[in-house]
Amino acid sequence: MDILLVASELFPYVKVGGLGDVMAALPRAIRALGADVRMLLPAYPALRAAVEIQGETAISPDLMGGGPARILKAEAPGLPLYLLEQPTFFDRPGSPYGHPEDLARRFAALAWAAAHLGRVGDAEGWRPQILHGHDWPAGLMPAYVAYGDGPRPATVMTIHNIAFPGRFPASMLDDLWLPQSAFTPDGVEFQGDIGFLKAGLKLADRLSTVSPTYAREIQLADGHGLEDLLVQRHGVLRGILNGVDRKVWNPAKDPHLFSHYDLKHPARRAPNRSGFQRSLGLQEDPHAPIFASVSRLDPLKGLDLVLDNVDHLVLHGAQLALLGQGEPLLEAAFHQAAQRHPGRVSAFIGYDEALAHRAFAAADVILAPSRQEPCGLTQLYAQAYGAIPLVRRTGGLADTVVGTSPETLADGTATGFTFDEANGWALGEAINRTLALFRDPIAWRQVQRRGMAADFGWESPARAYLDLYTTIPLRGA
Ligand code: ADP
Ligand code: GLC
Repeated sequence: MDILLVASELFPYVKVGGLGDVMAALPRAIRALGADVRMLLPAYPALRAAVEIQGETAISPDLMGGGPARILKAEAPGLPLYLLEQPTFFDRPGSPYGHPEDLARRFAALAWAAAHLGRVGDAEGWRPQILHGHDWPAGLMPAYVAYGDGPRPATVMTIHNIAFPGRFPASMLDDLWLPQSAFTPDGVEFQGDIGFLKAGLKLADRLSTVSPTYAREIQLADGHGLEDLLVQRHGVLRGILNGVDRKVWNPAKDPHLFSHYDLKHPARRAPNRSGFQRSLGLQEDPHAPIFASVSRLDPLKGLDLVLDNVDHLVLHGAQLALLGQGEPLLEAAFHQAAQRHPGRVSAFIGYDEALAHRAFAAADVILAPSRQEPCGLTQLYAQAYGAIPLVRRTGGLADTVVGTSPETLADGTATGFTFDEANGWALGEAINRTLALFRDPIAWRQVQRRGMAADFGWESPARAYLDLYTTIPLRGA
């Protein structure tokens, strides 16, 4: 089976959030099962500089008004890549989602290039049977397939976060090389605008999202205007959980840690606590439970509930470390909390991959109080690293954390702490339960060990995607 994955992020070259991590692991995991999976991404400078370029093909003299476009054939370790080279759009530093003036046109260009590869193939005659797009940046790909001429590859769309619709004015239809006939509820029209993600979800042959619970939630109240469409299409929608890339997230080998450890040597985790505390200006208190969060500061991540509990945590002898960036108001509030509680609360505002690894290896508790969470990776990394996740029971958090209760403690299945209501009081109550268990080291270690032993590998998700592909009748590929 020949499959082309289309996405806007790829760890370690370009990563804004979990999408980058998933794109680094999923295609390789499906390849390991024998399918010829390749990826198409923009030729970002960081990516281009890091991979070996093997060939190039011109595909348009002026793609979406962004000038000449070529597809470069490249190879990242264990993963064949195609890079859309279009210097006006992609040859610039910073976030892949910056430069709003051409945001729509440049990801339309990516989607069009994917459809082109699906129709025409590459210079060596490789032509994917399935185009698999991820999130709104790839959303128009099924539209270019549906409204274009020539052979039609099958299409799959995966929702990593439905809160980002990729919504642009209807007046851009021509700029995006879409025919007038596409602007209907059955096509790319979304509440009077052009909806990139909507187009993909309407027109792709199969849909998936990154957890079974989120797959249900987005058909109910949390679909950001796409609920009805997803209900219509629920027969072709699957929820497939993400995994953990053990090559990157393994405390026995992680180059970022102060000390390596594993399930059999938990005591070797201790230097990571003290090193982390020292590096962030927290008191080197071996008895204080360390609560940490590694997160984009976005209202949907629910970090305001943590802010409501800062004084409560400190009063009970805990420490809090925040690693994140995003909403300026949230950044400022965490900064102020750290100033109010020197040595007990620290706020690192920024993005730091190494510090994130150290946080998982040092923290006793990783907080993920999200209002919505399609899958979430930090609660999985927490478990692999022996930090216990405290999560709101939503989306993938609900599917990957077993909350402690008398029953789950008795049968040994508990892996974390959960709460339901999205308010500071409910989180505070869960914090109290967490602190109570922390005072019982034997029970604590049991929960910790269960998490460390959990298998969140990529093989099983990769099989689920392959299975999804095999449900599509392939058209004469
Ligand atoms: P999302 O994709 O919604 O941001 P996920 O939990 O799926 O949420 O993935 C977040 C990823 O980004 C994880 O790999 C996490 O470690 C990383 N991350 C988030 N914020 C930071 C930060 N400030 N510094 C380093 N890594 C971060
Ligand atoms: C999105 C979601 C997150 C998920 C990630 C990878 O960014 O917000 O929950 O883990 O994609 O699928």
